[in-house]
Amino acid sequence: MTDFLPDIPVLSSGEPDTTAGVRFHVETYGCQMNVYDSQAIAGFLLDRGYRRVGDPDVADVILLNTCSVRDHAEQKVLSRIGEIRRVRDVRGLPQPVIGVCGCMAERMGEDLTRGPRGVDLVVGVDRYRDLPDLLAALVDGSETPVSRTATGHRDDSRLVAPPELYPVNNSHLVTIHTGCDYKCTYCIVPATRGPQREKDPELIAREIEHIVRIGGREVTLLGQNVTAYRWGDLDFAGLLASIHGIDGLERIRFLTGHPCDMHPHLMDGIGRLDKVCPWLHLPIQSGSDRVLKRMKRHYTRRQYLDLVAYARRVIPEVTFSSDFIVGFPGETEADFNATVEVVEAVQFDQIFTFKYSERPGVPAAKLADDVPAAVKKQRLAAIMAAQEKIWKRIADGCVGQRWRAVVEKPARRPQGSWMLRTGNNRKVIAASPGLAVGDVATVEITGHQYTTFFGSVAE
Ligand code: SAH
Ligand code: SF4
Ligand code: F3S
Repeated sequence: MTDFLPDIPVLSSGEPDTTAGVRFHVETYGCQMNVYDSQAIAGFLLDRGYRRVGDPDVADVILLNTCSVRDHAEQKVLSRIGEIRRVRDVRGLPQPVIGVCGCMAERMGEDLTRGPRGVDLVVGVDRYRDLPDLLAALVDGSETPVSRTATGHRDDSRLVAPPELYPVNNSHLVTIHTGCDYKCTYCIVPATRGPQREKDPELIAREIEHIVRIGGREVTLLGQNVTAYRWGDLDFAGLLASIHGIDGLERIRFLTGHPCDMHPHLMDGIGRLDKVCPWLHLPIQSGSDRVLKRMKRHYTRRQYLDLVAYARRVIPEVTFSSDFIVGFPGETEADFNATVEVVEAVQFDQIFTFKYSERPGVPAAKLADDVPAAVKKQRLAAIMAAQEKIWKRIADGCVGQRWRAVVEKPARRPQGSWMLRTGNNRKVIAASPGLAVGDVATVEITGHQYTTFFGSVAE
């Protein structure tokens, strides 16, 4: 562990240099960690005088911040690259320069620069600091453009994304560590993100204080395993308690927790700290112990159910969401039924379900991907149907309740209404001319459609 402590970046107006006026556009795929990283990438480039544009058609540089978690995620990016190259060929120009950042850059490296879909620049997740230099060499014309690749993990890569680039009243993302030391057998993330490296708690505190100074009131602490955070004697419960003390900060959320780190003292802390929102996203992946063991998840179905019961005792109004993989190698009908039983037992607010996708080089790639595609499809539909039925019952039971919720943004429909979010992460659409983004209101629930509730403002 280094004592590396970068300054909070303050965006300068940008000294005019050779890159001045070069327009870049960033497209983000994958998880919230990439959303945060894209902000950091934009910060580095803006600071060097590049101009950010929202429209890829007018960009001189298009950066794709990519995800490798499933094959489908990679295919989407590969076809996007093909699309940009076709536009470029029609124009007959070398612009836009195409760069790939993120997990695909790390996994595929130089291969991405080859062939008819070859890109100009490949920059891995720990190399964004070098991006302005790498790009300058491609766009300033001082050198014959050759494609460039920078990948590999570094210990000093903890990034701070300028919070000014994020809508002030939404939940500000704050990455608290990078990488992952778990080795779930299906997962590519430990390979793409590298080992777990913590951000110094002092830096996290300064980052959040800065967010509050510019008007932010809520943060979402991010990491592949935030619950495994450890800095000397400080664990995640301790980190939450210290962040809780920051004046002006009103709400703290976090993503993602790992069930095997959800110790009672952490749940006690979450229950006690009133700024910490009572919502736990705790991916279980499967309800079958046999499958969990082969996934190397380090908990049993019983342990998961026990921790849900404990959390319900000590965290008032807690809600749960989870991820599920169906069709893991060797998953039988009985294994799958055990998973549906867990969905029924826990009563999640929301579940995210995925068909198993074999990733190259991960430990599970040695197992035969033997659940036929049609069966994966049918299990995915079955688990979603089970959840839909359960959720309808839960949501019907909420009608007539009164909830405290924060105004997040204008709702798309009906016109003039707001989207509010409760501490336990339920979305409510309500109309009220008197409200503004960031206000806290009491809403009475009048109905729902899927996971969105409708309500009227009671005070
Ligand atoms: N760190 C988090 C999430 C990692 S990726 C955790 O530990 O839970 C987000 C989700 O993608 C996972 O929870 C899992 O459900 C899914 N996923 C990961 N690898 C996958 C694969 N090879 N095939 C299908 N889904 C996968
Ligand atoms: Fe992947 Fe497991 Fe790490 Fe989550 S905990 S990122 S699923 S290896
Ligand atoms: Fe995807 Fe990488 Fe996130 S693989 S889920 S973008 S950590």
